Amino acid sequence: MHISYFHVADDVPSDNEPEAAVVIDVLRATTTIATALSNGAEAVQTFADLDQLSTTASNWKAENRLLVGERGGRKLQGFDFGNSPVALTKDVVHEKRLFMSTTNGTRSLDKVRSAKSLFTLSLPNRKAVADKLLSMKLTEILILGSGWEGSYSLEDSLAAGSLIAYLLSSSNSLVNLVNDEALASLALWEYWKGSIERCLRTSSHGKRLSALGDHDDDFHCCSQLDNLAVIPTQTKPGVIQAA
Ligand code: MLT
Repeated sequence: MHISYFHVADDVPSDNEPEAAVVIDVLRATTTIATALSNGAEAVQTFADLDQLSTTASNWKAENRLLVGERGGRKLQGFDFGNSPVALTKDVVHEKRLFMSTTNGTRSLDKVRSAKSLFTLSLPNRKAVADKLLSMKLTEILILGSGWEGSYSLEDSLAAGSLIAYLLSSSNSLVNLVNDEALASLALWEYWKGSIERCLRTSSHGKRLSALGDHDDDFHCCSQLDNLAVIPTQTKPGVIQAA
């Protein structure tokens, strides 16, 4: 099994057509997706483009839709929610479709939407996604972080390393880490795995969120490991549902 990891969407080779892609945006898009689907959302439909989101959402029954998203970490005007996973409780999301756009996470999802299989991973659902990948007996996995406006993300690389560490320890087949980014993410995980929340708070985006206000609940939620069993899976281009 060949595993590659790319920090941001622009790093992914243009001819990418991976057998399986895993998109990560720890703070906070893929944690929000995992939480919403785990809490009973019908689907999360993601958009890099806000006009496309508005057009598509307007054709969805108002009582069955929620607009979720942010730019720069701040809730978008006219949206029901920003991008805090803790706001998306069972009562809020039950059987609703979330129409989501975020600064970086939805761009990464857009980049690899042509993958044969596409999953979203956060630290809470790391094991669930890893076990799914192992069950598929894949030859190639592309892991893609989200970063921040084209720059490296410490927390996304931490989660990529946590996935790679799990796959290395659990796979029955030979695992080949294809690029330096994958190797480096593993070292990052080994260094920070005992203090995940502190890593998230130390990251540049963690500091950005802290400067915007109290995000303690988000940091706590986003730093939980393997506590959600949900496997967010792309069922149609741009539509993520619980497998
Ligand atoms: C992102 O897309 O970079 C994040 O989801 C931003 C955030 O939620 O703070």
